[in-house]
Amino acid sequence: MDKLFFFITMAVFSINCLAHNLTTDQEALVAFKTRIISDPNHILANKWLTNTSICNWIGVSCSRKWQRVTTLDFSNFGFSGTIAPHLGNLTFLSYLNISSNYFTGIIPLELSHLRCLKEINMGSNNFIGVVPSWLGTIPELLHIHLDNNSFSGSIPTSLLHNNSKLQTLQLAYNFLNGNIPQEIRNLSALEYLYLRFNMLTGSIPFGIFNMSSLRELDLDDNSLSGWLPNIFVMVFRN
Ligand SMILES: *[C@@H]1O[C@H](CO)[C@@H](O)[C@H](O)[C@H]1NC(C)=O
Ligand SMILES: *[C@@H]1O[C@H](CO)[C@@H](O)[C@H](O)[C@H]1NC(C)=O
Ligand SMILES: *[C@@H]1O[C@H](CO)[C@@H](O)[C@H](O)[C@H]1NC(C)=O
Ligand SMILES: *[C@@H]1O[C@H](CO)[C@@H](O)[C@H](O)[C@H]1NC(C)=O
Ligand SMILES: *[C@@H]1O[C@H](CO)[C@@H](O)[C@H](O)[C@H]1NC(C)=O
Ligand SMILES: *[C@@H]1O[C@H](CO)[C@@H](O)[C@H](O)[C@H]1NC(C)=O
Ligand SMILES: *[C@@H]1O[C@H](CO)[C@@H](O)[C@H](O)[C@H]1NC(C)=O
Ligand SMILES: *[C@@H]1O[C@H](CO)[C@@H](O)[C@H](O)[C@H]1NC(C)=O
Repeated sequence: MDKLFFFITMAVFSINCLAHNLTTDQEALVAFKTRIISDPNHILANKWLTNTSICNWIGVSCSRKWQRVTTLDFSNFGFSGTIAPHLGNLTFLSYLNISSNYFTGIIPLELSHLRCLKEINMGSNNFIGVVPSWLGTIPELLHIHLDNNSFSGSIPTSLLHNNSKLQTLQLAYNFLNGNIPQEIRNLSALEYLYLRFNMLTGSIPFGIFNMSSLRELDLDDNSLSGWLPNIFVMVFRN
């Protein structure tokens, strides 16, 4: 069963790689660009020239070897707009940082195709909807920053099932409700857990205090009950 799964995964991966190249990446970024409706710093006109390779666009980095986009860092660019689903075609992307912009709308499901993602930072925007549960299926994901948006709903347990590598889960300053799932303790590599300023209720899962990897925990400004009121940053280790 495991072997079959492995072969299917490899086959899907190979098809993806064959079907995509820098032209696909270019189309993805052009689609991304068309959904940016405000650009006060004139980045689109002056720094994302259509007559140069996307690898020379400010905030974009490509792998030399594969000539594919591996990094997008558009933090603090002043962009407004929504996220084009085409971004999910950047199959080599490992680092995505669009923090501190004015993006709205939901995070497209197509981004779940980004199987190489190691870090995703969409903090300080105005995204709505639920925290994407597919984040729990990205095998190498180390850092999730979705803080300071308008995410609602509960913390998806699927995010917590098998995510043995996740080190940072930053969901502070949103509108998350419900309990903190007991399964949180299954994040065996988690070092930073920030859930401050949401609408979480119920008791603090006791297992949290048993997570040997945890260094910082911030649960302040919620409606949690439990034997440690007003928990803010607890440094377990230095
Ligand atoms: C990229 O792939 C498309 C098909 O998906 C193909 O038409 C195109 O020629 C390829 N470009 C390069 C530079 O390999
Ligand atoms: C690209 O276009 C800009 C103007 O849009 C021009 O200033 C620049 O010289 C062009 N670069 C190349 C490499 O053709
Ligand atoms: C993303 O951008 C912000 C703002 O520039 C920066 O503080 C942060 O270190 C960057 N990277 C990650 C992974 O958050
Ligand atoms: C890229 O993604 C879009 C939307 O998700 C899709 O419609 C399109 O076919 C994809 N393009 C390529 C070349 O894979
Ligand atoms: C949240 O984002 C806004 C801008 O979108 C920024 O002004 C504010 O400082 C951020 N707050 C926190 C707590 O990060
Ligand atoms: C959490 O981990 C325990 C063992 O460490 C396992 O028995 C349990 O099924 C896991 N829970 C989930 C929801 O994956
Ligand atoms: C977690 O991983 C184990 C073994 O890799 C697998 O059997 C199980 O189905 C996974 N659970 C989830 C919820 O993905
Ligand atoms: C904490 O971990 C120890 C050792 O793994 C285990 O025996 C104990 O049951 C755990 N306690 C909780 C509350 O998870």
